Amino acid sequence: MADDPILLAARAALSRLTMPGGAPFLGAPEVSGPVMANGRISVSILTTADAASALADIRTEAEAALRAIPGGEGALVMLTNDTSSPPNLKPVAAGPKSAAPKPLADVRHVVAVASGKGGVGKSTTAVNLALGLRAQGLKVGILDADIHGPSIPTLLALHGQPRMGTDRRLLPMQSNGILAMSMGMMVDAETAMVWRGPMVMSAITQMISDVDWGVLDVLIVDMPPGTGDAQLAIAQGTTLSGAVIVSTPQDLALIDARRGIAMFGKVDVPILGLIENMAHFICTECGTKHALFGSGGAEAEADRLGVPFLGAVPLTMDLRAASDSGQPIVARDPSGPIGRLYTDMAAALWSRLSANASNTQPNKKLQGA
Ligand SMILES: Nc1ncnc2c1ncn2[C@@H]1O[C@H](COP(=O)(O)OP(=O)(O)OP(=O)(O)O)[C@@H](O)[C@H]1O
Ligand SMILES: [Mg+2]
Repeated sequence: MADDPILLAARAALSRLTMPGGAPFLGAPEVSGPVMANGRISVSILTTADAASALADIRTEAEAALRAIPGGEGALVMLTNDTSSPPNLKPVAAGPKSAAPKPLADVRHVVAVASGKGGVGKSTTAVNLALGLRAQGLKVGILDADIHGPSIPTLLALHGQPRMGTDRRLLPMQSNGILAMSMGMMVDAETAMVWRGPMVMSAITQMISDVDWGVLDVLIVDMPPGTGDAQLAIAQGTTLSGAVIVSTPQDLALIDARRGIAMFGKVDVPILGLIENMAHFICTECGTKHALFGSGGAEAEADRLGVPFLGAVPLTMDLRAASDSGQPIVARDPSGPIGRLYTDMAAALWSRLSANASNTQPNKKLQGA
């Protein structure tokens, strides 16, 4: 029950609270939960008999915050000195759930946008590819799997929190014709920063299972860098149709790209394409193209690895400014050179997805792979 949808709302409510010392309530070492226990939200605060009185106010406040959310009427926040069985979030259990609706039942393709290294432009690529797919007339969603550094709310200028649907699943937010869900819409940055492995996995699982994504042609997953808990949760919770790897032209980033490709290879997830980002710089003054990190590296690497090369995106001020303004370049200037580049890459991605669809194998679970 760790992934009941109500827990997303509970986390959001608790994320606004602080412990008496000023530390965020959620993620404080003495706080366990929220979890669902016997049909109600439960949180425990570990303390000693001497220190309990100092925590009385925050206990009352947390309980009131939980009781104010829909379905949280019976919430319980306990002070406890019992270290033997504190309620705790369990890691995601692989395997089918009983009565819950099948996660992503009406989503045709789930595509991860990944890299081995941080800051290479995954989120920028994910959002613009999603908008490029949308421009083909497809129904598209984007799931921000970066719990510690969510970018999607900023990139899509999404403010506020998602609403709860009638079946107690959250409804994704909408921007520029695509659906989006991110932990950045639910909790503030400092709160998620301290989440440990099982909480990261639980948060991602909830964004897969407890969000009503409805009917989608493609769900793009904006992955965090690396090969950790988030990757495991996505591989466990979805059947990926494939992955798009983003790399900058530097050798170092390519080494990381290779690592990313190898990770998906291990779980039989096809690589749908490699995108070279920040490939070259076009001088705004003279229009000259400067290959700052050398040219052709990513394309040659794609060839060598036998993965499709989707395209090379230059480093441009327009692209960065568009992202910063919450109106990605494909939304702002769809017929400009960069807008067209992303739309073409999205079209190539869609052809590949459609071609692979007939022989797509469910991905092996990462666990034990
Ligand atoms: N082609 C580009 N031209 C100019 N700026 C870019 C380009 N691609 C990305 N950026 C900028 O680089 C920064 C990092 O990009 P982004 O957040 O998409 O990377 P990321 O790989 O998702 O990072 P992280 O690993 O932290 O999630 C952002 O400020 C973004 O606007
Ligand atoms: Mg990112």
